[in-house]
Amino acid sequence: MEFEEARRRVGELRQTIEQHDRLYFQESNPEIPDREYDGLKAELVRLEAAFPELDQGDSPTRRVGDDRLPGFATYRHRVPMQSLDNTYSEEELHAFHQRLIRASGDENPIYVVEPKIDGVAVSLTFEEGRFIRAVTRGNGVQGDDVTENVRGIRSLPKALSGATPPAMIEIRGEIYMTTEEFQRINGLREEAGQAVYANPRNLTSGTIKLLDRREVAQRHLEIVLYGLGHSEGLKLETQEGYHEILREWNLPTVEKIWTVEGIDEAWAAIQELDAMREGFAYATDGAVIKLNSLALQQEVGATAKSPRWAIAYKFAAERAETVLRAISIQVGRTGVLTPVAELEPVHLAGTTVSRATLHNAGEIARKDVRVGDAVLVEKAGEIIPAVIEVNLAKRPSDSKPFEFPANCPICATPTVQLEGEVARRCPNLDCPAQVRRRVGHFASKQSLDIDGLGEAVVDQLVSRDLVKRLSDLYRLKREDLLELEKFGEKSADNLLRAIEISKTAELWRVIHGLGIQQVGATTARDLARVFGSLDELADATPEGLVAVEGIGEKSAEGIRAYFDLEANRALIDELMALGLKPESPKGDEAGGSLFEGKTFVLTGTLPSLTRDEARVKIEAAGGRVTSSVSRKTDFVLAGSDAGSKLTKARKLGVEVVDEDRLMEMLA
Ligand code: IVH
Repeated sequence: MEFEEARRRVGELRQTIEQHDRLYFQESNPEIPDREYDGLKAELVRLEAAFPELDQGDSPTRRVGDDRLPGFATYRHRVPMQSLDNTYSEEELHAFHQRLIRASGDENPIYVVEPKIDGVAVSLTFEEGRFIRAVTRGNGVQGDDVTENVRGIRSLPKALSGATPPAMIEIRGEIYMTTEEFQRINGLREEAGQAVYANPRNLTSGTIKLLDRREVAQRHLEIVLYGLGHSEGLKLETQEGYHEILREWNLPTVEKIWTVEGIDEAWAAIQELDAMREGFAYATDGAVIKLNSLALQQEVGATAKSPRWAIAYKFAAERAETVLRAISIQVGRTGVLTPVAELEPVHLAGTTVSRATLHNAGEIARKDVRVGDAVLVEKAGEIIPAVIEVNLAKRPSDSKPFEFPANCPICATPTVQLEGEVARRCPNLDCPAQVRRRVGHFASKQSLDIDGLGEAVVDQLVSRDLVKRLSDLYRLKREDLLELEKFGEKSADNLLRAIEISKTAELWRVIHGLGIQQVGATTARDLARVFGSLDELADATPEGLVAVEGIGEKSAEGIRAYFDLEANRALIDELMALGLKPESPKGDEAGGSLFEGKTFVLTGTLPSLTRDEARVKIEAAGGRVTSSVSRKTDFVLAGSDAGSKLTKARKLGVEVVDEDRLMEMLA
């Protein structure tokens, strides 16, 4: 390659990699599979090695991606959190082994082989055996303080038990989410018209960086620990011994590690791991091979970015080739058009895949995916399969580039692309596809919970033009329902009764049911508590909205945009005129005003209540729960393992109460 060409390519790669780093580490929303990313990085490393003149200045090959976000305090790691060199090739493992023999002088090094967990890296600090801090990797040197979010992980003991703990220790590991939890949350997001996450890792990193702790508390996170940072007063010789002591402290550790001699045994262990990893609770994307002796680790040292004593071997994600039969376009509740690949069914990673995501128009254009193409489909940590690339050798000669429809495939309205959005939308609020989704959402469990109004019934009501807008539900007559398939008198009466009952649903259910963008069930509850009626909410100023705990600027914008639309105001008036009368206890009217004007801060683990339950009790009595202790705080409710907040409360002279005392006050 000519120098000029290399220089151009290096510039391009650096820019692309930086963009993908941002999507992965900060937005928790990567656009390309890990393997594709690793390929770009490997190409850049090769070019920088081949052209030393280009190997200078700032390059993503010389640092780790940065996950820090505004809104978090940062904390400096006592020992930097490095990244790992990784490879997909067995040959490179042998090269790693040879390098280590040379560097350590040990002819047959002992290795520990561990699963490589595909989660979010975190460093926990324990002082005198007590959990005091959790910090993300950040840029490797400084990370974001996520202590409170990590404290909510129930399976993490907040105090080390068993063996005597050292004076201080940084213990490293990965936060993850189980597949079931991932599917549960994605289901709720879909219902709320929010973008779904492609895999548990992205959802985990999105969760750990939420500023709203109540939102975090509603998502179940897990943790697994394997690494050592700084420590004081710890006697330890091997990585294997470290795993033993983690277990003695009752910390969650990996299911299995292999202590082996030489690289051939390590390779056998990797195969064994590959065969059993499907049964693990967390996603794994490879194996990590580490020198067992901590003294040897010290001796061989590290580069600026990664240790020389370890390497990650990554498992290739399963892929299969199949034919793209068609590209269908789904229209969501908010009008977003999502292209879906309709595939010739193919067997992949234990399931039959017949559909895969194509994300958006830009993605289809970038990959030049065409109907009739042979495409490579991958299912990695991705639960949702994705189309990776086209096999151009098999492209039919008469194929044409895919033209993203300019009009909505359902109602033919010209689509629009809003500023700052990648997606195209159908702007027609009366589009039957949107109406169907909107009505389904309105009737769903987390909204008005209308029994008997499932998808099949909604479909019929909309396609027969009986329901064009939400208010039409309250105009349905018995004879309308009797026209529907499989509808007898009894089911018609039951449905009418359920619709009637929904008129007195709680206010938050109605707010959620309206399907305002960015307003999930939790936010709807917050809004109902503070504003007390739809009218007051509709008139709230952006400042007033942001002042509500748990409402960020984005939600505030979504809410304002909704009520600024005349059609939405008219809809609400109509609903009211038809008898919808949401029950609207404001916070202080709900259960009394015992704690009116009183602010609580919760800290530590309570003996019987979860923090969420305690919060509900306090709020029901008119109190407010905030996250940090100040002179204005009235009470600190403290459980066991309470940390700095308790200290601060004592320093400021804030009254500290325990769970028993709280229950007494409430009684
Ligand atoms: S050891 C000095 N062991 O993978 C760095 N890392 O791609 C030592 N990871 O930054 C890291 N499982 O966040 C190690 N068993 C394991 C791991 C593991 C997952 C993560 C870790 C690391 C990243 C590198």
